Amino acid sequence: MAGRIPQSFIDDLLARTDIVELIDSRVRLKKAGKNYQACCPFHNEKSPSFTVSQEKQFYHCFGCGAHGNAVGFVMEYDGLEFPDAIDELASMQGMQVPREQSGSGAAGSQPAVSKDLFELMNQIARFYESNLKSATHAVEYLKGRGLNGEVVKRFNIGYAPGDWDQVRRRFGASRDHEQLLITGGMLIPRDSGPGSYDRFRDRIMFPIRDKRGRVIGFGGRVLGDGTPKYLNSPETPIFHKGRELFGLYEVKQAHKEVRRILVVEGYMDVVALGQFDIDYAVAALGTATTSDHIHTLFRTTAEVVCCYDGDKAGREAAWRALDNALSHLQDGRELKFVFLPDGEDPDSLVRQIGKAGFELLLDQAQPFADFMFERLARDAALSGEAGKFEVANKAAELIRRVPEGFTREGLITRLSSMMRWGENQQRITELFSRHTPSKVEQAKPQRGKLTPLRRALALMVQYPGITAELPAMPELAGLRLQGIGFLLKLHQQILAQPGITTGILLEHWRGTKEGEILAQLAMHDLFEIQLEREPDILGELQDTFVGFINQFLKQRIEELQAKVAQQGLTAEETQELMMLIREVQSEKRNDIGA
Ligand code: CTP
Ligand code: MN
Repeated sequence: MAGRIPQSFIDDLLARTDIVELIDSRVRLKKAGKNYQACCPFHNEKSPSFTVSQEKQFYHCFGCGAHGNAVGFVMEYDGLEFPDAIDELASMQGMQVPREQSGSGAAGSQPAVSKDLFELMNQIARFYESNLKSATHAVEYLKGRGLNGEVVKRFNIGYAPGDWDQVRRRFGASRDHEQLLITGGMLIPRDSGPGSYDRFRDRIMFPIRDKRGRVIGFGGRVLGDGTPKYLNSPETPIFHKGRELFGLYEVKQAHKEVRRILVVEGYMDVVALGQFDIDYAVAALGTATTSDHIHTLFRTTAEVVCCYDGDKAGREAAWRALDNALSHLQDGRELKFVFLPDGEDPDSLVRQIGKAGFELLLDQAQPFADFMFERLARDAALSGEAGKFEVANKAAELIRRVPEGFTREGLITRLSSMMRWGENQQRITELFSRHTPSKVEQAKPQRGKLTPLRRALALMVQYPGITAELPAMPELAGLRLQGIGFLLKLHQQILAQPGITTGILLEHWRGTKEGEILAQLAMHDLFEIQLEREPDILGELQDTFVGFINQFLKQRIEELQAKVAQQGLTAEETQELMMLIREVQSEKRNDIGA
């Protein structure tokens, strides 16, 4: 494991990044009062409910509930994981991401290793590419497959020479680099004796890039009928087949907004489609479409079309993909299937029917629900009355995995009509009784009353600048009130970093339960009616804190009084009690006097 990225660096990075500038470079923002607005990039809408606050350094969509700071935006919009999003923001600011030294020795050296390996992989890709020009038989092969020079360049297709040691000699000359390339799957250690040899020899090479364009592995095809037809990089620390998609980086390069993504089986399919200007295809690397793949795809687009053979195996593969996709199918996302005529793959088909013909097929793709119910209906028809129940149960199990929303409601309706349940709500309720609110539902800003503590938290996270004017009150830690510890911690954080924004504050709580609560509160509409004057945030916070202090004093009085009855008080405690009582009484008089 790479060492952690220091929190102080993330704070610094967020302080330098302006969320308005960041988002505006991807989604055109319009000024609206104090905030900025746009149509939400995370769901379909006609009127803008996506709001960005410069002051809070936080975005929030009133339509779908999407929200977050600059890091969150890059993660969602660019489809990156947390460390990659930090990398991305850092590179925009021209900053290098530091890593904390982690515990064990081997782990501590990992980050440098990965960085060098990425660099080596990149150099090897360029080496393969440059070889292609002089490898006549490889060029002839590609021409024979109908590829033109432009698309070969676009995908950086190359050629690995036939010798056993070209890569080793050029890139693995030092012991360190040789080891690194063994780790990266480019060299194979010899069985007998020291040394290693090239994994890929005399093959057409397809570099596989991660979402950020770094070369992480290769697929290599033989030039003729040899076996194995394709040789792929093995699993390595930087390459995980079940997660990566060949061509995704190129799709993202070609489109600012990706309307749909086509998932096909092979490298050649992606490249051939690309040549015919269908530049939104990706391939799973010789594996089934995994849940990770679907997750990644829906971070980039709202419509995923999976393309399979029309035969039995193809339909089984589609069913597995569907199974993996259900939990990702929230409203606004579409999954469809295309089944190809027997014996054709996208490569062969697009060459026959061209771009227009192929896209017609895509436009007529089968929505996942149709595919799903076709199959369920078949199963139900095959089984008797008793078996029908089983099918209904199976269907309910699938449908329950779909996040709540219109998509799921539609599936439930279809199931009940397929089972001819009609208005028999009882059955339906039984099958879908477990209520699991979707993420979006949870994320909706809640209006209405908050407890005093929650309201204080909301004020604090929304107005950290004002909160910083309140002195620390560590004695409140003794107050028996759920959440007070969290509130004090938040206050301390704000006091420790004057000028902290809502966005940075939330970053400290990323991935925690408290963080989710805070994010909700950051969006909470605290002043439901349009106020004529600026609200008195400081006054309200002061009042709340005074309220907590009074509550604390009362709690202490009760404790001491209980002790009087049980075991009596020490002289000191008696004095404390008297003082407390005086204080509370004077508070009361002040209240009356005011
Ligand atoms: N594949 C693989 N290993 C193999 C065969 C196939 O990893 N031995 C993967 C590759 O990613 C390949 C995909 O499965 O691109 C589809 O395989 P296949 O249909 O056999 O190949 P095509 O993509 O049609 O390749 P070509 O047109 O070059 O024959
Ligand atoms: Mn093929």
